[in-house]
Formats: sequence, structure tokens, C-alpha cells
Amino acid sequence: MERMNTSTAIRKFNVSEIRKDFPIFAQHEGKALYFLDSAASSQKPLSVLKAMDDYYSTTHANVHRGVYHIAEHATELYEGARVKIGRFVGAPSPSRETIFTKNATESINLLSTSLTRKMLKRGDVVVLTEMEHHANLVPWLIAKDQFGIEIRYIRVNDQGYLILDDIDDLLKDAKVLSITLTSNVLGTLNPVAHLARLAHENGAIVIGDGAQYVPHIGTNVTELGLDFLAFTGHKMLGPTGIGVLWGKAELLDALPPFMGGGDMITDVKLDSFTPNELPWKFEAGTPPIAEAIGLGAAVDYLENLGMDQVRAHEVELLSYAFERLEASFGDDLIIHGPRNINDRGGVISFDFKDIHPHDISQILDQSGVCVRAGHHCAKPLMRHLGVTATARASFHIYNEPADVDALVDALAKAQAFFG
Ligand code: ALA
Repeated sequence: MERMNTSTAIRKFNVSEIRKDFPIFAQHEGKALYFLDSAASSQKPLSVLKAMDDYYSTTHANVHRGVYHIAEHATELYEGARVKIGRFVGAPSPSRETIFTKNATESINLLSTSLTRKMLKRGDVVVLTEMEHHANLVPWLIAKDQFGIEIRYIRVNDQGYLILDDIDDLLKDAKVLSITLTSNVLGTLNPVAHLARLAHENGAIVIGDGAQYVPHIGTNVTELGLDFLAFTGHKMLGPTGIGVLWGKAELLDALPPFMGGGDMITDVKLDSFTPNELPWKFEAGTPPIAEAIGLGAAVDYLENLGMDQVRAHEVELLSYAFERLEASFGDDLIIHGPRNINDRGGVISFDFKDIHPHDISQILDQSGVCVRAGHHCAKPLMRHLGVTATARASFHIYNEPADVDALVDALAKAQAFFG
């Protein structure tokens, strides 16, 4: 497992208190809502909603353009959120190295596009893993089709870990290693710092997909050995419509822009343009201003709890869920991924008897239990597991043992229903 940071909690971790900060739970007071789908998208605390509402109510104007007071204040809020979010993942130079995108998917598309426009050439090798989300597969498959890059894969073993026996061969002469920090299906926490060291010895650039990691575990890009990190706002208590790409300044400087338009230039002539400085070189058009401010508030919320406590809470819930699921259903329920809780993030994908995951999800919904069913945008991994879909329960800070109990009770009903 990678490190956790040492952010200081200034408030005791109390789930009942935390739940009061999330209006959705009050809305469903008296009705069952056991929300176990935060890996797909997390719920939002009032402070995030309020930060966005305040901005729209009191300060809304475009950023980097107007010289009147609310426009200047909007720019300060937007750029302030950037620095806060960059610091949250340990960016050495947060104001230059933190790029706002639409989501983690766009962050990786930015990289695959800009890298193939300049640094990569036909035949260059990009190493991925078999457990990647489509967001870290399809952009590279497009690059394979359009630019002729070669893709090699690190395979997955039956316990849900990466097979590293042939890692030296896989990384030999590779130009890029792009790897998820946490599998959104198996929960596996990959040994990214170790792999980054090996990749760098081979001269490769290392990209981390942190969509399922940054919301749950204290993150430091330098300690992880990354050159780039992609993550998304809506899984970490922030709004939809905003993602982040952190990158080392010297690499971002060397890359050509991704999208063209307003704000990403310092000059435009009829036959040429001069790109803007970092980070704006990669932010064409009006950016997600309210969303950046909301994500900044989400980071404040998580930091206030302390990422060590966020992770400790998740480990506790995982242990409880494993214990209850195994004791209640034995071999009828197969959990995918590592058995060692310390090697996994807060997702539990499972097969339950021969019941289709969509049926499971619908039956659970009758008891107010929300889980995701499907291929989880990881079709190659589904093929490896020999399934077309799984059901998946996933946790965040507002989950409590009662959610796990509700899941177990609802699964027992499904078991009875399907015999
Ligand atoms: N990538 C998200 C998930 O795993 C949507 O559910």
C-alpha cells in the first residue's frame, strides 16, 4: 500500500456528525437511503454547495478577463482553489502545475493527445495494466490507431494483483507507464511508487490515474514518483464537471496545448499563435469556475477531517463488510480482488450466486441500498474475470456499519427470492 499523508485532523471523525453535513441524507430522513456507490460519484457536503452558490450569488463574473472588482475576486477564488487542490496532492508548484479539466478522462485524453503530438512517435511503447478503467485505455487505443504507438499490458493474477514477474521486459524501452493507483473494480492498491522507479530507470514517463485514490488516501505526487496525476472532483465530495491534471512543470512546459481557444494564448495572428504560460496553456475557453471553487471547498472538508482518518474509516468499514458478507453468504458470494484489506481501496465488487448484477441492484434498491451494477468501464478486466458484469458496493466518509448491515439484509432477501 502507498503512504498516507500526515494531515492533522482538527475535528474528531464522527460519522453521525459528518452525515449531518450532507443534505441528501436529511432529504431522505425516514426513508431508506444506504448510499454505497461513491466510487461512481460521491455525495456533496453543504459547504461545497454553499461555496458554489455564494460564488454565483455574490461574485459571478468570468475569470482572467475583467478588471472590475467582482471579476478580480472571481479570478482570486478560482486561482486560490487551484493552489489548494494542487497542494492537496503535494504538487511542488501548485499554481503552475495544476490544470483544470472536465474530468479524469479528459486529463488522460489531454496527455495522450499532447504526448503523441510531440514527444511520442510511431512504434513507441506505452505500458498499461489489464485493470485500467476505459478512461486510461481508450485514449491510448486511439493513439495506437492514429499514431501507431505500441501498447503492452501488465496482467492481473487470480488474487487481483498485478503480475510483475516480467515487468523488466514490459518496461524495456517503454516511453510511458500509465497506471491506475486503485482499481475501480478490484479495489487493488497498486505498488505505484515501485513501478514508477522501474519505469524511470527505463526512461519512461509515469502517469497515475488517481480517480479512485485521491478521494480516499493522502496523496503526494513526489512520494508516488509520478510525472502526471489525473483525478476528478465528483468522486471526492466536489461537483461534477471538473477534473484535474497535475504534471511536472518541465514536462507540461514541453508539451503542446491540447485544445485551442480563448485564454490559452498570449498572442494570435492570422497564421500563428503563441501559447500562454502554465497552467492556462491547457485551459481553453471559459473554465469550470464554480466547480473549481466547489472542489476547493471539498478539499477543505477532507483536510479538516484528515486523510489518515478518512482512510482509517474506510479500512474499518471494509473489514466489517468482509466479515459480514463472508459470514452471511460463504461461497455463495465471491468478492473480487485482494483479500488483504490493507491492499485495497473502498470498493467491493462481487458475484452473488448466479443472480445477474442488474437484478441484484434492482432488488437492493427496493431496500434503499444503492450499488452499481455493470462492467464498470473496465471491459478487458471483466473478460479476465470471466464475467460480463459485477455488482459493486463502495464507501466514503458518510458510510457506517448500518449501510453494510442493510446491504447484507437486502442480499439475504435476494437470496431468498431467487432460491
Ligand atoms: N468510473 C466510475 C466508476 O467506476 C464511474 O463507477
